[in-house]
Amino acid sequence: MAPANPKSPPHLTDTTDPIPPELAARVEELREQLAHHNKLYYEHDDPAITDAQYDALLNELREYEADHPELATPSSPTQKVGGAPAGRFPQVEHLQPMLSLANARNDEELRAWELRVRNRLAAEGITDPSLEFVVEGKIDGLAMSLVYEGGELARAVTRGNGVIGEEVTPNVLTMSDVPTALPVRKPPKLFEVRGEVYIRRADFHALNEQRAEEGIATYANPRNLAAGSIRQLDVELTRSRPLSFWAYSLGVTDGIEFETHSDQLAQLRDWGFPVNDFVVLDDVDQVVDACNSWEERRDALDYEIDGAVIKLNDNELMRRAGVAGREPRGAIAWKFPPMEAKTTLLEIQWNVGRTGRLVPLAVLEPVNVTGVTVQHATLHNEVDLLAKDIREGDEVIVTRAGDVIPRVVGPTPEAAKRKQRAAPPAPPAACPSCSTPTEKDGDWTFCPNRRGCPGQRFQHFKHFVHRGAMDIDGLGEKQVQQFLDWGWFESLADIYTLADRREELLEQPGYKETSVDNLLGSIEASKQQPFWRVLFAIGLPGIGGVNARNLAARFGSIDALAKATTEEIAETSGIGPILAENIAEQLAQPEEFELIERLRESGLQLAGEAPGSSEGPLKDKTFVLTGSLPTMTRDQARELIEGAGGRVTSSVSKKTDYVVAGAEAGSKLEKAERLEIAVLDEDQLTDLLAG
Ligand code: IVH
Repeated sequence: MAPANPKSPPHLTDTTDPIPPELAARVEELREQLAHHNKLYYEHDDPAITDAQYDALLNELREYEADHPELATPSSPTQKVGGAPAGRFPQVEHLQPMLSLANARNDEELRAWELRVRNRLAAEGITDPSLEFVVEGKIDGLAMSLVYEGGELARAVTRGNGVIGEEVTPNVLTMSDVPTALPVRKPPKLFEVRGEVYIRRADFHALNEQRAEEGIATYANPRNLAAGSIRQLDVELTRSRPLSFWAYSLGVTDGIEFETHSDQLAQLRDWGFPVNDFVVLDDVDQVVDACNSWEERRDALDYEIDGAVIKLNDNELMRRAGVAGREPRGAIAWKFPPMEAKTTLLEIQWNVGRTGRLVPLAVLEPVNVTGVTVQHATLHNEVDLLAKDIREGDEVIVTRAGDVIPRVVGPTPEAAKRKQRAAPPAPPAACPSCSTPTEKDGDWTFCPNRRGCPGQRFQHFKHFVHRGAMDIDGLGEKQVQQFLDWGWFESLADIYTLADRREELLEQPGYKETSVDNLLGSIEASKQQPFWRVLFAIGLPGIGGVNARNLAARFGSIDALAKATTEEIAETSGIGPILAENIAEQLAQPEEFELIERLRESGLQLAGEAPGSSEGPLKDKTFVLTGSLPTMTRDQARELIEGAGGRVTSSVSKKTDYVVAGAEAGSKLEKAERLEIAVLDEDQLTDLLAG
């Protein structure tokens, strides 16, 4: 008998023997465990075991596969990752530890901190110094160290445990906010920038909406999404995520020095790093006011902050104050209350969406979440609901983080453990709007009464008129609902017969001559919207703005598209076979045909290529987007600009033609002003898009 392999359990021995069933079972178990831990680590950013424990599992599996090569499969967790030793990202020791911050929850604690700083400095022989404080927002993302060697970005490393982080350079290189080189002829030898990778609320919301549409689990908050997105082994996945960056301090530098923190921030800003607003103050009362002011603005910001950070401005004093444990004594975080609360889920209501899918909505015992009373919250979709095991009557955690409409995160752990709980929620057997029996389509329940269901019809009109589609001003939810109630709107094409009812409309309360004429003018103007927008607006299933433009570019007219086979449609970029089949099926419906004919008679554009990058009113124009726009996300603005032939770049230079700035625009706006580049708000951009 062959000697036992010392690495293997005693019963697993000779490599030439058939694979013992215990070994096969153990291999299977290891693979399942590793897949589970990979999911927790990469997708949820919430590992349940230490790296060492993970490595032990992986090594055990490696050994079995080495002993029994016939066991190794291409999909084994041992095969998936190259480069990193433990099948993950390379571990890198920081040049200098990335510290954390002590907390103050109120002004008393802040004043106590100031006193401690003064005492500490006195012990260092610095008596009664005049102190300057910098107050910044505390961004809720994940900390990143960017090391520039000879002016080039050499390494990007996550905070990790503060001493050792993960090197994610290829992922960070996909981020347009992060300069790949310092824009100077003689850069410092070494320059380490520290800051926070984060996701804007609007981007988070759009991504979660899209995931909800696709029936996949949504992200809990922008921080988790940012962390999960940067730590993707597939760099293309990171690239597809709208990651942003704020620089807030320097780490180790060689060849450059600064006296104050504010000088550092100014230098960072000048070199093109996004640097958030900050103030330099010399009095603790003013510091308290500045922290309160951040808290007041918290909701209006397009990114999440969980507090304010107060730092001594004088770098020498900061150094002399020293470090206690893992926290620098010369800085402190003023923490805000979390954007979460517990309450009871009274009921789960189901509403019908534009495409007929039934969408769950939580009716809650009203609860105050950081100053806002929350009574309804979205549950996104059936899959999410079941995955999170949310049931009526549960005590649930509600969050306002990142979302326009608050969200139910899940039951509290105590509620989830209770024996007496309601049954898992199930969508109704009949449509809540039109009572048509519902049907199943994969994970979704939907109302099949596509054109006849009033709920779907309302959502359809809402979509058709919205800014990104036909952009009809003055036709808001209220008006749409009224026209539906009065029986004036049946088909989308009825919008274009509203002009015939001008006199009748003027007799209705609340419809004054000017507003009616503006509305009719806006309807008339919408007839000039390009073909791709019409295609988007009529709301074919699964057709967003990008798909609509691609279809318009490929087929050139609705007639050509309607005649195309499923296979031909599927050749369009971004359109898979299932979507292609849905489109073909939809366009073959008699009601769809009738709608298109009526829209044609009304004078809408049903032909015309989507302008590519070489055509359109913004041809050859370069744009930079900054801050949050009132009604569009940055992705939507980019889509519109590119659709009109323009280009969107990430940093402002002399070659930039326009900077589109919204609320909380930072350094890019300043730079635009310095370079005297035209700055537009959203309305001016819309005008420009209209040519
Ligand atoms: S300074 C010495 N400034 O907060 C600590 N940190 O609790 C250096 N953070 O890990 C951090 N915004 O991820 C600093 N304006 C800001 C910040 C900020 C967010 C995060 C950072 C750090 C954590 C400290």
